[in-house]
This record gives sequence, structure tokens and C-alpha cells, in this order.
Amino acid sequence: MTQGPVIATPQSMSDVWDAYRAELDGLEDRVRKNLDSSVTLVNTVAAHILSGGGKRIRPLLLLLSARLCGYPGSEHYQLGSIVEYIHTATLLHDDVVDEADLRRGKRTARKVWGNQISILVGDFLYTKAMCNVVEFQSQGINEVISEACNKMAEGEVLQLYYNGNPAMPEIDYIKIVEHKTAGLIAAACQMGAILADATETQQQALFRFGQYLGIAFQVADDTLDYIANGASLGKTIGQDLRQGKATLPLLHLLQHCSAQDRQMIKDRMETRTLSTDDLERILLLMGEFGSITYAMDRAKAYIAAAKHELDQFDDSTPRRAMSVAADYMITRDR
Ligand code: IPE
Ligand code: IPE
Ligand code: MG
Ligand code: MG
Repeated sequence: MTQGPVIATPQSMSDVWDAYRAELDGLEDRVRKNLDSSVTLVNTVAAHILSGGGKRIRPLLLLLSARLCGYPGSEHYQLGSIVEYIHTATLLHDDVVDEADLRRGKRTARKVWGNQISILVGDFLYTKAMCNVVEFQSQGINEVISEACNKMAEGEVLQLYYNGNPAMPEIDYIKIVEHKTAGLIAAACQMGAILADATETQQQALFRFGQYLGIAFQVADDTLDYIANGASLGKTIGQDLRQGKATLPLLHLLQHCSAQDRQMIKDRMETRTLSTDDLERILLLMGEFGSITYAMDRAKAYIAAAKHELDQFDDSTPRRAMSVAADYMITRDR
């Protein structure tokens, strides 16, 4: 009787990080080595953010997708570093748009060197990613990554369009999240499958897996913006409302609270001020009306839909790891 392969069962995200430590080290190596600008300032600024302790969740999903589809090679390090560069570029730009002071527990690049440098080094990382991606000479990869970048820019613009508007329809909130965050995560998952020469059906299933995961990930991020411990999150709490950004928990609250509280919230969004007392009051109201629970329930439903996409793959260590990673997307505290 054949025994079949021994399948390791990661129980928690730290088991997943441990199981793929060597692969993640390979990725890290590539992230560092590809940063080879002849302009020292570019390297300094990029290293500041890249060595700041990012979770590397997108490259991890890419490598898991590739392994899930039976990829035996090592090109996923390069492709993973490309995805991380694009993600980092969006963070450099995002911190300028959001006027953020803290990222990954450190002062943002824009705080240390200014907005202009932050934008330009973001451009460097974006274009570096493009230089590296064309080396794959894969029409499939080119299409997936360029579409994702284009959608991200669109999502950010739509978000800006709604800035300060407490009446944003929930459907547009989801559209923003799908574009600005889920698109790149979906692309990372699909690109892992492309690298493995997976079937079109498998590629599409992994794209949808990433898409659902990405929506849930951003909804959780928007909830963490209210309830997280700032020190573990490494970002400033309450920053979304302070920047006039209405996200899912706040949209829910605005629909359920009294006219007086709604007016108070609108006022804070317009004046872009938020004291500790205001934040406490809003958190209290969110507790009273179940706004945090509502948002997290929505996120959980997306995670369930994502896991459903894994059903068509045989049981394997990467599949189990992807299921654990799916839960982590909304249970994380940073
Ligand atoms: C932050 O992404 C931006 C969002 C899409 C919410 P991550 O939470 O993946 O950031 P790092 O890379 O781990 O710092
Ligand atoms: C994610 O939105 C931005 C990108 C996808 C670039 P946020 O603005 O909520 O991300 P954080 O909270 O600053 O990391
Ligand atoms: Mg931001
Ligand atoms: Mg956020």
C-alpha cells in the first residue's frame, strides 16, 4: 500500500512563516539585491521603508500559489520582489496622500525626506518593478501586473473623489477597496499560478482567491484603524477619519447613530481634526451599534468565499498554508 505524501499542517501563521522561512529568505535576498540604483539617495530612502518590517504577505501568497500549482523552480523570488516593490511604491505614495507620519513603526519617508522624495522614490520602485517584470517575457504576467497597477491608481482616485463625503454608498467603498488593495493581491496569486503553468481555470480560481482575500484584508485594515494598538500596528490610529476618509465601520455607524452624532462626525471629517475624546466617543458608538462587528462579519464572509476557491485543488501543504494565511488576513494585529 502506498503511503502518499506526508502533508504538514500549519496551524497558525507563525507555523506558515516557519515552514516557508527559507523561501522568504530567498525573497528577502532578492528584494535587497535588486535595489541597485547609482543614486545613493534612492537606495537610502527605499531601504528605509523596505527594511522596516513589512509582512511580505503578497510575495508569500505568490510563492504559495506557485507551489500549490506544482511549481518546482526559483523564479518566484524575483516575481515576489517585483510585487513587493509595487506594494512599497504605493505605500510611499499613499503616505503622501494620507499625510501619514508613521509606517511600520517608523517615521514615514515623507516625514524624514519630504513629500517630493517620497513620490519620486515610489516612482523609482514602480518602474524598477516594470524593468524586472519584462525580463520574464511572459505576456500573461505583463497583462496581469499592468492591469493591477492601473486599477490601483483608479481606486486611489475614486477614494480621493469621495474624500470628506460621509454619504459614500457602500458599493463604492467596496469598489475602492477592490481596486486599491485587492487587485495587487489577486495579481500576486494569479502570477504564482502563471509561473507554474497552471490551467486557466486554476489561474482564475487563484485570482478570485486573492481578490476576496484582498477585500477582506483592507476591510480589516480599516477596522484596525479604529481599534488597533498603535504600537503593534506601526501606524497612527484614527488616521482615516482624520483624513476625511469614510470606511466601512464608519459608514455603518453613520447610518445608525443619532443626527447629532452624525453631525459631529461630519464636522470632524470636514475639519480634519480628531481629538482623543472624539475617537473614544466614536469607538463607544461603534460598540453600541455593532459597527466593528458588522465590518468584520463582512470581512469574514469574503474570507469564506476565498477559501471556497481552494476546494478545487488537492490537499497539500501549500493549500493548508493558504487557508491559514486567509484567516490571518483578518485576525492580524499589524
Ligand atoms: C498596508 O499593507 C496597505 C494596505 C493595503 C492596507 P500591509 O499591511 O501589507 O503593509 P506591510 O507591507 O505589512 O507594512
Ligand atoms: C491602502 O489603504 C493603500 C494602498 C493600497 C496603497 P490605507 O491608506 O488604509 O493603507 P494604510 O493604512 O495607510 O497602510
Ligand atoms: Mg494610508
Ligand atoms: Mg489603513
